[in-house]
Formats: sequence, C-alpha cells, structure tokens
Amino acid sequence: MAHTLLILGGTTEATALAIAVHEVGITATFSYAGRVARPKRQPLPTRIGGFGGVDGLVNYIHENGITHVVDATHPFAAQMSMNAVDACGQTGTQLIALTRPKWQPETGDNWTHVPDIDAAVAALRGPSKNVMLAIGRMHLDAFAPQPQHRYLLRLVDAPDGEVPLPNRHIVVDQGPFSTENDIALMREHGVELIVSKNAGGTGARAKIDAARTLNLPIIMIDRPAIPARPEVGSSAQVLAWLDHSSTERGV
Ligand SMILES: NC(=O)c1ccc[n+]([C@@H]2O[C@H](COP(=O)([O-])OP(=O)(O)OC[C@H]3O[C@@H](n4cnc5c(N)ncnc54)[C@H](OP(=O)(O)O)[C@@H]3O)[C@@H](O)[C@H]2O)c1
Repeated sequence: MAHTLLILGGTTEATALAIAVHEVGITATFSYAGRVARPKRQPLPTRIGGFGGVDGLVNYIHENGITHVVDATHPFAAQMSMNAVDACGQTGTQLIALTRPKWQPETGDNWTHVPDIDAAVAALRGPSKNVMLAIGRMHLDAFAPQPQHRYLLRLVDAPDGEVPLPNRHIVVDQGPFSTENDIALMREHGVELIVSKNAGGTGARAKIDAARTLNLPIIMIDRPAIPARPEVGSSAQVLAWLDHSSTERGV
C-alpha cells in the first residue's frame, strides 16, 4: 500500500519537508491552522483550518486514507500535537514529529526561565521598561495586567482586534530577521528587556543573538509539555522513516 501523508505545518521545517516530499513524489497534504493572512505557498495540496479536535482529525484520517502523519508544527502548538498523538493512536496511524532543538543560553546570555505565558506576565511586575514582546499576537491580551511598560510588538500580521496595551509600538514584519537588523531595532526603541518563547531553530533566533550583543536580559518562556512520540530533526530522517515504516492501519 502506498503512503498517504498528512503534514501538520506552520514552521520553516514543515515547508522544507513539503519540498522534499514533493520532490520524491509521495502523496501528501499540507495542513495549516490558518493563523496568518498570507501563508507560504506549498508545493503540495494544502488545506487550511482546524480539523475539529481529536474527533475531527480521526474523521479526516479515515476519510482521506491517511497512513502517516508528520507533526511539523511549532513547539508551542501543544494542542495540535496532543490531538495528533490521540488521533493517530485511535486510528493506528503512524506518527512522527519533526522538531528542532530548543535554544540554549550561551556565555553572556542573561535569561530568566519561566514555564508559561502567565509566568512571563508575572515576571514583568515592576517599574516601567521598554519591553520587546516577541511572542506573536495570540497571547497579547495576557499582558494587559502589566500596562506600565512600553511594548515593542513585532508581528507577522497587523493585529485584527484591539491590543489591550496602552503603550505599544507595532512593527509588522514576516522576516527573515538578521541579528544586525534586530540590534538596530532594539537600539531604535531603547529596548531594555525581551520576552521570547523558546522556539529554537534559526528563523526567530536573531533577537536572541542581538540581545547577547546588547547585553539585554530575556524572559525565556519554556516549551509546553507534549506527550511522548517519535521525533526526528530533519526532512531526510522523515523520508527514511517513511521508507522503513509499515503502512498497516489499525482501524
Ligand atoms: N504557537 C506558536 O507560538 C506558533 C508560532 C509560529 C507558528 N505557529 C503555527 O501556528 C499554528 C497554530 O498554532 P497554535 O499555537 O494555535 O496551535 P495549537 O494551540 O496547538 O492549536 C490550536 C488548534 O488550532 C488548530 N491547528 C493548529 N495547527 C494546525 C495545523 N497545522 N493544521 C490544522 N489545524 C491546526 C487545531 O484545531 P482543531 O482542534 O480544530 O483541529 C488545534 O487544536 C500551528 O500550525 C503552528 O505550527 C505557532
């Protein structure tokens, strides 16, 4: 039986995998959550939007004869990753995660580790500062209890609703970002403190290197826990897994 692959995307690594899968001619569909206005075009048939929880994903797997799922979502997309573990478990579908190592502090870094967004908000208690909030647009509301800061927000798309932060400056930029440009941005806005998710990878790394150069502290939000599943770190390893894994389905 041939492979029919579902790639859960939203990352640079997912896009690289889509190209690799297309090149070798494996039947595959690419899935986006639909969070950004202009998602990157993929060389594969693409669907956009949630599946409707675990049950929705189970139905999608059945209806589309999916034999293999690659979870190449962002490390903070914990709900999707948990749903994939559950739905693949229920349907006997092969699942692998394409992940990237988290960033590690280097000499000269001044990181405060916090477990989640709420803890990052709590860590911002205190006098007004110029804060670069580099966490995307989905959790901005959570920072409303700390309105004393002047926030620099860099977002892929302009916010679609009201941002409940009275002192903020919004920069809309899809990247890619360079350390030089991030140093210039931080200097321009007098940034004193950065809040970042520990995304890992190269796409969002520039701000971490810029912070080190400028000697700026970072409140680093640790990754959420995700149930155990097999993980690999490259498209080549996913292709090797596809080569070796069985296509027998449980249900
Ligand atoms: N969280 C971040 O910091 C971040 C950063 C960069 C990119 N992204 C990307 O943005 C997407 C959404 O992130 P999130 O934090 O909202 O995830 P999440 O909290 O884990 O997911 C919430 C819901 O969004 C839907 N969803 C998520 N990823 C999907 C995908 N690839 N295809 C179809 N539906 C998907 C699912 O809806 P249903 O339950 O209805 O199926 C899921 O339950 C992910 O694909 C991720 O790779 C996230």
